[in-house]
Amino acid sequence: MSKKILVLPGDGIGPEITAEAVKVLEVCRDQFGLGVSWEEGLVGGAGYDATGEPLPPETLEKAKAADAILLGAVGGPKWDKLPDISKRPERGLLGIRKQLGLFGNLRPAILYPQLADASSLKPEVVSGLDIMIVRELTGGIYFGQPRGIRELENGEKEGFNTYVYSESEIRRIGKVAFELARKRNKRVCSVDKANVLEVTMLWRDVMEEVGRDYPDVELSHMYVDNAAMQLVRAPKQFDVLVTGNMFGDILSDEAAMLTGSIGMLPSASLDANAKGMYEPCHGSAPDIAGLGVANPLATILSVSMMLRYSFGEGEVAGKIEQAVSDVLDQGLRTADILSAGMTKVGTAQMGDAVVKALKAL
Ligand code: NAD
Ligand code: IPM
Ligand code: MN
Repeated sequence: MSKKILVLPGDGIGPEITAEAVKVLEVCRDQFGLGVSWEEGLVGGAGYDATGEPLPPETLEKAKAADAILLGAVGGPKWDKLPDISKRPERGLLGIRKQLGLFGNLRPAILYPQLADASSLKPEVVSGLDIMIVRELTGGIYFGQPRGIRELENGEKEGFNTYVYSESEIRRIGKVAFELARKRNKRVCSVDKANVLEVTMLWRDVMEEVGRDYPDVELSHMYVDNAAMQLVRAPKQFDVLVTGNMFGDILSDEAAMLTGSIGMLPSASLDANAKGMYEPCHGSAPDIAGLGVANPLATILSVSMMLRYSFGEGEVAGKIEQAVSDVLDQGLRTADILSAGMTKVGTAQMGDAVVKALKAL
């Protein structure tokens, strides 16, 4: 049966990078016989400009009806000063995650060996790197109530957010991490701030409880400040790293640099039934939007994750990853991963090269 994909290009470089990922989907359909079809929708600033809403109701309906979603990126300076915070492009993205229950965010930081020179760390520190960051995506301080900006009696304003996790929210993301670890190197490191924050004291206790059901998986705990340091000191000590929404956001951008560039890190955001939204971890990159220089590989690799996690098409997913590797072997590099002796290409050239390599497989 044919799978329906909703493509949400979004803002900034979003349309440029999703266009390349769609080219890859076309090859999967035409050459590998994958039963997929897709349509586009509006989200973020593009949704706001067209309809007044960053998540137009029509987009949400299409997202619910789709088998999977491919998203580019949202946001940009044009919308940063909107007086009504609920209209910000980022709220569109957060709305899809929440409304679809996409609580399990997988962000694999894998170093393609060809890019060892592109990382800002020494090649020996990052070579062979393969970490899975599991980020809780629909709770924590991003969604906790109460939140807002209020005026105090002395006339001063005060901003506030609430960092809250229930046991069930922690348990379900814990299970995602342990299940993944079971298929990998059987180590989970849970990252928290349990020396200060009650919410993460509970997080630690629940992770211990979940861990008892996985005696074959080794569980360790680390404070987030140390984890940030360890990620650049000795990143290969990690196998699966599980953490809350905000810590996961920050640590995954940090981990992206271990792989050479933020332009290399794909992601999957899954519900309990592996329905998912797939997107690069980076943002709309306003500084390079429209220039045709953005790296489309994180988005292309997000397609590969879609095939693997939502469609059970591991073989075709593997071909996409192989095609990316082949293109890197050819020495083609977008500006963000450029190193000495390599050939600089733009967004579309990189996408076309992946398509060509894929067709040759
Ligand atoms: P960003 O990830 O957009 O950009 C950070 C830096 O990385 C920039 O220098 C950018 O040029 C570079 N970069 C990012 N993606 C790249 C790619 N594919 N190829 C080459 N270089 C790339 O983060 P930011 O500047 O903090 O945020 C810009 C906007 O994006 C903000 O509005 C933010 O809210 C939004 N954002 C959206 C998402 C998302 O949609 N998932 C994620 C992060 C940030
Ligand atoms: C990400 C982004 C989003 C987040 C923003 C744009 C809401 O940074 O997907 O990593 O913080 O989750
Ligand atoms: Mn982020």
